[in-house]
Amino acid sequence: MKNDGKKICIIGASGKLGRYMVQHALEAGHEVVAVCRPESVNKLTEFASRIAIIPGRTDDRAVIAQAVRGCDGVLTVLVPWGMQRYASGTAQAVLDFAEPDARLVFSCGWHITRDGKDTYSRGFKWMVKVFRFIGRALRWVDLDDQVAATDLIFHSKTRWTVVRGSDLEEGPSQGLPVWSRHVGDPILASNRTRRVDFALFMLHALTDDRLVHEAPAIVGRETESARAHAQDVLQVA
Ligand SMILES: NC(=O)c1ccc[n+]([C@@H]2O[C@H](COP(=O)([O-])OP(=O)(O)OC[C@H]3O[C@@H](n4cnc5c(N)ncnc54)[C@H](OP(=O)(O)O)[C@@H]3O)[C@@H](O)[C@H]2O)c1
Repeated sequence: MKNDGKKICIIGASGKLGRYMVQHALEAGHEVVAVCRPESVNKLTEFASRIAIIPGRTDDRAVIAQAVRGCDGVLTVLVPWGMQRYASGTAQAVLDFAEPDARLVFSCGWHITRDGKDTYSRGFKWMVKVFRFIGRALRWVDLDDQVAATDLIFHSKTRWTVVRGSDLEEGPSQGLPVWSRHVGDPILASNRTRRVDFALFMLHALTDDRLVHEAPAIVGRETESARAHAQDVLQVA
């Protein structure tokens, strides 16, 4: 997909990552269709005159079918809220209704593994275990459903990319993050990315065909590990 003002759908647009993506997409000259929960429409007020907003839950198939129609690219914030298969319902709807040749880019965290070759620190594994247990016990988040969602994506024949974010922080942009195929690769060791740059990478993936059928794990380009292993970079803008 060329970056020359395409129609982009952003699903989950009212969250922190979503709003950064809206901002980057507008700056890139794209036409933007935004999906967000009805109670969150006011979080998009600053963009309201420049984007089309479709209120609805992201796993509502009718909402997604309407939103992605005619879009060249779809950016989806994949979140595992509740116990009703929210993430996998969202992913399935996007996979089912997006235009056949659209670029589909999904967000998630490092805990998602595509081929089982990621290596995690003991601390990371412990944190995911605790989060998974508490999330399920409180019926608050279902990490396993985000795993199910990405499995659907990995097995689909669409032109997908699953961007796996490290720990996030706020702050001014440092530029496009660097990426590697496996968590545990030295370049990722700093485990820190600015959220604004996570969004930049999501937009970038729309136009970088080397990222089709990849699950890049990203890290901020100004972090210690990225600087130390700059020669290992698979792709820089
Ligand atoms: N947070 C991290 O440290 C981190 C680290 C690595 C990767 N990630 C990934 O980054 C992406 C964005 O995550 P984020 O943590 O930065 O959050 P975020 O950008 O603020 O996005 C949260 C999303 O979840 C929605 N949401 C909140 N409560 C909900 C509910 N009860 N039911 C349904 N939807 C609800 C929000 O919609 P509303 O605006 O309607 O509330 C928003 O679209 C995710 O894919 C996540 O897996 C996050």
